[in-house]
Amino acid sequence: MTKRTPRFIRTHDVSSHDERLAAIEGLMAKPPQGLPKHFYDRLGSHLFDAITELPEYYPTRTEAALFAAHGAQMARAIGGGSTFIDLGAGNCAKAARLLPLLDPARYIAVDISADYLQDALRDLQRQHPALDIVGVGMDFSRSPALPAGLLGGDASRPVFFYPGSSIGNFKPTQAEKFLAGIRAQAQGGGLLIGVDLVKPVNVLEAAYDDALGVTAAFNLNLLRNLNRIIGADFEPRQWRHVALFNTVESRIEMHLEAREAMTVQWPGGERRFDAGERIHTENSYKYSVASFGELLGRAGFRGHRVWTAPNEWFAVFWSEA
Ligand code: AVI
Repeated sequence: MTKRTPRFIRTHDVSSHDERLAAIEGLMAKPPQGLPKHFYDRLGSHLFDAITELPEYYPTRTEAALFAAHGAQMARAIGGGSTFIDLGAGNCAKAARLLPLLDPARYIAVDISADYLQDALRDLQRQHPALDIVGVGMDFSRSPALPAGLLGGDASRPVFFYPGSSIGNFKPTQAEKFLAGIRAQAQGGGLLIGVDLVKPVNVLEAAYDDALGVTAAFNLNLLRNLNRIIGADFEPRQWRHVALFNTVESRIEMHLEAREAMTVQWPGGERRFDAGERIHTENSYKYSVASFGELLGRAGFRGHRVWTAPNEWFAVFWSEA
């Protein structure tokens, strides 16, 4: 029997000129910003996987429990034979658990961390030798538009999968645009999406500032990655991880705070940071079932079904395009 290997398409080059410009623009902004996508080099992806194992980080296990309890019902609502598109697939573990229930005709895994994804897909293909698997190394943070031709031809009923509440990493206006971009490609199919819900502040802040310091390492790794992308000389030891819940905006904010005054340099530029100055690295918005349902509606989706965790900490929505 001939062995199937996953097809792989790369559209993202982390060392591109645009990528460097965007990173520098963020650093020079007032206040300075990091781009969340720059968390996810190979080490960052591993650190994120470690976060998902932490006792404080409830989203992954709460969502997994929802899929375990209601996966069969979700699969019935979605129907078999789809093209299943996993946005931010990472190690593909979440999709791997759903594949036997969903029985798609094709699995398309998309992630910015292309090397990491390629490793994961090799393993997945061994477990599902007959499945048509395509990997896409792509930065979809600006637009979820897939490379031309991927959803055409015999690949019918596109079902997008966006678990883990990654939608929370967009500002709500950007999230609406992003969801509308998914809907435009999902005609005849839909979107299965995980959404983190508002809950007590102590639970939220512990999830983003764990006792072992794994989330701190994940945040600080952005500086290492920036050193690589723009050739800067950040010294991670000079920075401190900060995570706080902004109640007005309903979001967790992660920052990196300078422990001392310093000047960071890169070829062609530099920036001075005062002691205590912060680089805002990530937002993670928390929704209510009602507010996220409204967001789906504004993005053009036609109604939805929702499965909510018994403690109401997390929800999974299925919405037809
Ligand atoms: C990927 N994303 C949904 C995570 C979150 O919870 O916002 C990223 C993360 N940042 C810190 N911990 C996890």
